[in-house]
Amino acid sequence: MNIKPLKIGDVTIDIPIIQGGMGVGISLHRLASAVSNEGALGVLSAAGIGFLHPMWEKNPRKANIIALEEEIDKVRANTEKPFGVNIMVALSDFENLLITAVKKGVDVAIMGAGLPLQVISALRKAGIKEWKTKFLPIVSSGKAARIIFSYWDKHYSIIPDGVVVEGPKAGGHLGFKREELENPPDVFDIVRDVKRVLARWEDKYAKHIPIIVAGGIWDGKDIYKAINGVGADGVQMATRFVATYECDADERFKQAYIQAKPEDIVFIKSPVGLPGRAVKNKFLEEVEAGVRKPFTCRWKCLRTCDYRKAPYCIAEALTNAAKGNLENGFAFAGANAWKVDKIVSVKELMDTLLQEYQMAISEMNI
Ligand SMILES: Cc1cc2nc3c(=O)[nH]c(=O)nc-3n(C[C@H](O)[C@H](O)[C@H](O)COP(=O)(O)O)c2cc1C
Repeated sequence: MNIKPLKIGDVTIDIPIIQGGMGVGISLHRLASAVSNEGALGVLSAAGIGFLHPMWEKNPRKANIIALEEEIDKVRANTEKPFGVNIMVALSDFENLLITAVKKGVDVAIMGAGLPLQVISALRKAGIKEWKTKFLPIVSSGKAARIIFSYWDKHYSIIPDGVVVEGPKAGGHLGFKREELENPPDVFDIVRDVKRVLARWEDKYAKHIPIIVAGGIWDGKDIYKAINGVGADGVQMATRFVATYECDADERFKQAYIQAKPEDIVFIKSPVGLPGRAVKNKFLEEVEAGVRKPFTCRWKCLRTCDYRKAPYCIAEALTNAAKGNLENGFAFAGANAWKVDKIVSVKELMDTLLQEYQMAISEMNI
C-alpha cells in the first residue's frame, strides 16, 4: 500500500482516514467497527447516545453513560483494530462521557463544538492518573489551536496528541461565524495556519503533532492533496460514510442525501449556538419561518442551549432524523452531500478511495 499510516502517539491507523463522529445516532457501533475493520479509524458519536437505552426517559444522563459503555463493548466485539469516540464539548455531560471513554480504554477521543480545555483536570478529579486514550481537539482556526495548546501546556505540562482541522465544508455544527461562511476560508489555508501555530509546541515537546484535515474531503484525489500537497497526516471524512449500508442511520436519512440537489444543502442556526449545515426539508423551512416546535427540556443536554428561546429541541430533532422521522427532524450533512448518488458498503467506499489515491499518485509522477 502506497499510503502512509496515521500515527497518533502509539496508536497506528493503517489507512490515514478517520470516520468523523456523527450524532445523534448516525455513527454507532455498526459503522465504527466496519470502518476500523477496513484499517481506517471508526468513531462512535457520544452525542445523545442514551436514546439507545431503556433508561433514557427516566434518567438521560445515566442512559448516556451506559449506552456509551455498551456501544464501546460492541465495537470491541466486532474489531480488534483501534477506534475512537467523538464527544462534543458543548454537551453538559462532556466530562462524564470523556471519563467513561477513557476508563473503557478507547484509543482516541475526538472533541469538538467548543474548546476542550478541562480535559486533564476532569480526569485528575476523577482519580485517573494514567490513560491510553489519545486526545484530538477539533479546531477551525490557528487561534483556537493556540488557545488549546497554550492552556494544556501551561496547566497540565502536556499537549494534545494531535488536532483535527475542520473547515467550512463540514457537516453538522461548524466552528465559524455565520458571516465568515459567506466568504469561507479554504481548509488547506487553515491547516497551514495551524501548522505555523503548532511549530512552537513541536519544538518544545520534541515531537510531531499530527494534523488531520476535515470538511469537504470527497475522493482519493482530495486525500492526496491533503496529505501530499499540504502535508497533513490524515483526513477525517463523514458525509461519504453516511451513504454506506453499515451507517447506523435509518435508510430514510441516507435517502435524504441521495435525493438532495446542491441548493438543498443549507446553513441553519442551531440551538447549540453555532451555525450548522443540513439538508433542507419542511421541518427546517418551518423553523426558518418562525414556527416554534413545542417541547419541554428535560435535562438541558447542552451547556449552550437556552431552551426558553430555542425554536426546537435539537437533540430530539436529530434523534428523530436518525430514526428516519424527518417530518420531525432534519439531516445534518456536509457541503458535498448532494454528490451522493448511491449507497455502498464501507469496504467498497474504502477500496474506491484508495484506488483514486493511487491514481492521483500515478498522475503526479507522469
Ligand atoms: C450527519 C453528521 C453529523 C455530525 N455530527 C457530529 C458530531 O456529533 N460531532 C462532531 O464533532 N462532528 C460532527 N459532524 C462533523 C463530522 O464529524 C466531520 O468532521 C465533517 O462532517 C467532515 O466533513 P465531510 O462531511 O465533508 O466529510 C457531523 C457530520 C455529519 C455529516
